[in-house]
Amino acid sequence: MLKTPKTIIAGNWKMNTSPNEGIALISEIVSHNQPTDDHEIIICPPFTHLQSIQSVIKDSSIHLGAQTVSEQENGPHTGDISARMLSSIGCKYVIIGHSERRTNHQETNALINKKIRTAIAANLTPILCVGESIEIRQKNQTLQWIEKQLTESLNDISINANSIIIAYEPIWAIGTGEVATPEQAQEVHEFIRQTLAIQCPLLYGGSVNEKNSIALIRQNDINGFLVGNASLNATNFTKIINNCIKETAI
Ligand code: PGA
Repeated sequence: MLKTPKTIIAGNWKMNTSPNEGIALISEIVSHNQPTDDHEIIICPPFTHLQSIQSVIKDSSIHLGAQTVSEQENGPHTGDISARMLSSIGCKYVIIGHSERRTNHQETNALINKKIRTAIAANLTPILCVGESIEIRQKNQTLQWIEKQLTESLNDISINANSIIIAYEPIWAIGTGEVATPEQAQEVHEFIRQTLAIQCPLLYGGSVNEKNSIALIRQNDINGFLVGNASLNATNFTKIINNCIKETAI
């Protein structure tokens, strides 16, 4: 019996790779991965790589995602990229509210709410990131924090199991090598599941690698991963994917 919702493994390349390095990396990932109906692989490269990556993955089972999107539909917004532009070149997904955007670009839950609306209107599936700082965890306020992020980001937006993906990414685990324990991650995922009351995919992110992904994917409410560093290496990323395929197909 397969785990539901469907398992999703998304690679967030952040601001890494030249366009040529990106082509080499995606070509290797494509060559390592066979299509399956029950697992979805998403690659989120930098904006400059989207079209060339799309041409490599178009006949594979890998889908394209962007790392952020403007909350505006069009007009005088120098440097911004609209949801419609992304969907017109083949993007199906967009990461919204990553903690690096919240910190480096002062993205608030209110702004994230607008971005989610714009994305859904353009037929993109948002991958909404939530997660607490170490200070919030130490004060035992993690669940309240996550609830606030979810309620404010999704305020007045009608969502269903197929229209959104949530990624729980504790800030203290992102890029630090300090992964959440399976129990810590499961506790928050279960809370998110109850709070939203829909069966959308819930991904864990933060220092996921080929070793720790096994115990994490065995948790009831973990439906896959949002992978940063380890997605920049085709072998490591493929091992994570294979762990998910193996552990979820019982
Ligand atoms: P990491 O990044 O896997 O390098 O910790 C995850 C993320 O920020 O999405």
